[in-house]
Formats: sequence, C-alpha cells, structure tokens
Amino acid sequence: MTIDDVKIIELPKFLDVRGNLSFAEQFSQIPFEIQRVYWIYDVPGGEERGGHAFRENEEVIVSLSGAFDVIVDDGKNRKTVTLNRSYFGLYIPKGLWRSMDNFSTNSVALEFGSVKYDQGDYIRDYREFIKMKKDGIL
Ligand code: TYD
Repeated sequence: MTIDDVKIIELPKFLDVRGNLSFAEQFSQIPFEIQRVYWIYDVPGGEERGGHAFRENEEVIVSLSGAFDVIVDDGKNRKTVTLNRSYFGLYIPKGLWRSMDNFSTNSVALEFGSVKYDQGDYIRDYREFIKMKKDGIL
C-alpha cells in the first residue's frame, strides 16, 4: 500500500435548519466490516497521537468536531490531510505509518477500524516499519 491508496470519502449529508446529519455504514461508505469504533478527544494543544502503523487494520477517520491533521507515510512518501468537516472520512489502508497532530480546541476524531483492538497489530517503531516496507512484508 502507498499513500496513493489513502482516499477522502465524501459522506452523505442532510442539511437541515434543525441541524445537519451525516452517517456511515459498513460495506458502503466504509469499505470494510466495522469491528471497532474509537474516538480521541480533549487533546491538549501541541500533542500528537497515533504514531504507528497497522499490520491488518484498515480505518476511516472522521473529524466530528474541530480540525486536525493526519500524516500518512508509506516509507517513501508522506502526505498531510487536514480533516475539518464532519462529512468527510479519510480511508487509510493497512500497512501505512500514520499520525495525527494540530488538534484544534475541542476537536473530536472518530475512527472506524476493520480489526478489534490487538496490540500485536501495531507497529510502533518507525525504523521497524521502514525495514518491513523495504523487505516487502508490509
Ligand atoms: P494508543 O494506541 O497508544 O493510542 P494512539 O492511537 O494515540 O497511539 O492507545 C492508548 C491506550 O488505549 C492504550 O493503552 C490501549 C488503549 N486502547 C484500547 O484499549 N482499545 C482501542 O481500540 C484503542 C485505540 C486503544
């Protein structure tokens, strides 16, 4: 997988004077079966989250509130995507290094994952990630 496999997914949005609504369903807007949902909130200014790669987990990240940057890296190239609307999801396939920073005050990041929480699915050492990419095992 490379950073070219990272895609913005435009989610349905129902604009309404009572408040707007968006949604996501598995195998539809979310291109996998959803095994896990988690969210990141109350991030202090200047903090970074999620500096790791997944062996198997695919994910879609949505900014439910506020804004933050997602940095994706395939070992050769890197790109930054700013999420600041709750009707966009960012699809990240497995095998990419990703981190999140520049969280605005009160931002909330929602993440849909294809795999239940499994510490063994995480690669947290960037040098190990680069080696696995070079060896073609990720
Ligand atoms: P961690 O993976 O370190 O966060 P980050 O994405 O910023 O690297 O997760 C922080 C803690 O939360 C860690 O002790 C494991 C726990 N956790 C779960 O139990 N289930 C989950 O689905 C997630 C994402 C984390």
